[in-house]
Order: sequence, then C-alpha cells, then structure tokens
Amino acid sequence: MDDRMMTAVLYDRYGGPEVLCTTRVPRPEPAPGEILVKVHAFSVNGIETTVRNGRLRLLTGRTFPQRIGLDFAGEVAATGAGVVGFVPGDRVWGILGRSSFGSAAEYVTVPSERAGPVPDGLDLVEAATLPVATTAVTALRDKARLRPGERLLVRGAAGGVGNAAVQLGRAYGAQVTGLARAANLDFVRALGAHRAVDHRSVRPAELGRFDVVLDTVGTDPRDWRRLLRPGGRMVTIAFDTRRPVAWLGSVAASTVHGRGRVRYFAGNPKREHFDDLARHVRQGLLRPVVDRVFPLEETAAAHAALEAGGVRGKYVVQVV
Ligand SMILES: NC(=O)c1ccc[n+]([C@@H]2O[C@H](COP(=O)([O-])OP(=O)(O)OC[C@H]3O[C@@H](n4cnc5c(N)ncnc54)[C@H](OP(=O)(O)O)[C@@H]3O)[C@@H](O)[C@H]2O)c1
Repeated sequence: MDDRMMTAVLYDRYGGPEVLCTTRVPRPEPAPGEILVKVHAFSVNGIETTVRNGRLRLLTGRTFPQRIGLDFAGEVAATGAGVVGFVPGDRVWGILGRSSFGSAAEYVTVPSERAGPVPDGLDLVEAATLPVATTAVTALRDKARLRPGERLLVRGAAGGVGNAAVQLGRAYGAQVTGLARAANLDFVRALGAHRAVDHRSVRPAELGRFDVVLDTVGTDPRDWRRLLRPGGRMVTIAFDTRRPVAWLGSVAASTVHGRGRVRYFAGNPKREHFDDLARHVRQGLLRPVVDRVFPLEETAAAHAALEAGGVRGKYVVQVV
C-alpha cells in the first residue's frame, strides 16, 4: 500500500447521501502549527447533511470533489513545525477550521489549537461525539452566560449539540427544559432535563418563560425570543435554510431588544473549550451519547440516518 495515499469520503455533486463515495486521495502533510491526526472516528453533524445536499451552495460553491467530516477523535501521527504540547501517539479530539471539511478520512490535518487531549477512560468512538459540544459551551457559557438557578430551554434537545447543551445546562445549575420528538422525551430526561416536552404537541407560548433559550433548530426565531423573561438571552446556532431571508430579517430586527436580541454565532472553538469539555467529562457531568456506529464505507447510511430524524445523541463513523 502506498503510504502517501489514504482512504477518504468525498462527493462530486450535491445531492442525497448516495453522492458520498469512498476513494483514495493523497495523505495530507501537517503545515507549520498543524498536527496530522490518524482518525479513529468522526461524527455526523447537521451542518454536513445541509452542505452535502447543496442547500448552502451559494456559500460552498460549485468546485468538486468536496470533502466531508468536521470533527474527529484519533491519535497524533505527526506534528508540523512550531507545534508544542502534542507528540505522536497522543489521543486527541477536535474540530476542523471554519468551513473546512475532511475528517471523513484516515488522516486529517488541523491547527493544533483546534484540538485537545481526550480524557483518560473515554474510548475514541465515544470521544468523537463530543467535539461539537464545544458549541454548547460557547452558547451557554460564553454567549448566554447561563447562571445557576436560571431557566433554560433547549430546542433540539436530543440532537448532537442539544444533548450536550442539556447536560451542560444541568451542570451549570440551570433548570432545564428540553424540546424533542415524543419518542425521545425519556432520553432527554435521562440526560438530566427537569422537563422534556414534545415539540409537535405544544405551541411555544404554552411553554412558559425562560432566562435563556438555546435554539439548535433555527426556525421562527421571533416566536422563541418572545419566551424570554426580562433580562433573558436567546442564542441560536442554526438558521432557517428554507427561509434564509426571513430568518435574517427576524434576527436583525431583534437587535432593537438589546441584550434580549437573538444572538447567532459560528463556532470557533479554542483549546480552552476542549479542556473545559474534558474537565466536565472527568467530573462525570458530561457523557458521550453514541446512538449508532457505522463503518467508514457506510458514511452515506450515517447521513441518511441523521436526515431521517429522531437521533439520540450522535451517529459516529468508525474509521479504524
Ligand atoms: N453555529 C454553529 O457554530 C453551529 C455548530 C454546530 C451546529 N450548528 C447547527 O445547529 C443545528 C443542529 O446541529 P446538530 O449537529 O445538533 O444537528 P442534529 O444532531 O441533527 O440535531 C438536530 C435536532 O433538532 C431536532 N429538530 C429538528 N426539527 C425540529 C423542530 N422543528 N422542533 C424541535 N426540534 C427539532 C431534531 O430532532 P428530531 O430529528 O427528533 O425531530 C434533532 O434532535 C444545525 O443546523 C447545525 O448546522 C451550528
């Protein structure tokens, strides 16, 4: 086998999960400041299915083939010039840079500050579920500044970011309400939510008032912002890809509410966020939730499963 090559998942047109194929591509070399990671597992994220089906083509362009995979857990295979704190063999987890994909592969390079050590006792398939939990840390800790005793509403509570947000919200001492489909309500309660509500059987206005609303779904931001108590904060990590102009209009208009506006951010986690996650894992306050594991050749099936709805935690693809 030519060790300058590796197996990776890519696609050469936008479309359904079937556009994903496994092929051989050149193995990357770490640039200065980067680490080369031998990927053991990655998870499937909502944004990846959206990009793959072309709904964001205005941003993602028409140059093919395109790569897939945003997060990873694996072992450091090599370090680029100037990297400190990592040596080959270290177990690491992380997320690729903004709008770059490619962890669905045997190897990936990443700036060293976008990775951190995997806590002892966590296997690498479990570890692959958690890098995206940095988004929940940024949303709840950094943007909303969630405080003990506050009432938190998590929309999309059973999903990849949502399940971590429920667990972290509880760890931060909040009173957590999770919204999910009926079949996942027990699951959301088992994550630590004080209350789990079927999003199909309730209108937002019936839910009561909250200090913090974290929206991982993105539709109708105005309806959810109305649930804020005085001094409340709403953070959304998702936008409505079906009605982007209306979504943008609602979010922009909400700035008249000052601190009570709808805040959107694009995740840009640093080493400190990964270390914070590791600390929560070690303290038993955050656990990985693996719904199902797929082999690399079945990445398309993992995408199809996420798109079918009803995920509990994360679908993970195991590379080795
Ligand atoms: N801004 C950022 O930095 C950032 C970072 C990560 C993710 N994101 C975005 O955040 C979103 C979620 O990502 P993810 O990876 O957590 O996705 P995911 O794992 O697919 O989870 C999405 C969750 O939303 C639920 N859901 C869908 N429609 C719903 C509705 N109408 N009402 C209530 N719940 C609903 C789904 O539940 P059912 O399937 O059971 O309905 C699922 O549990 C995506 O849009 C992604 O692009 C943004």
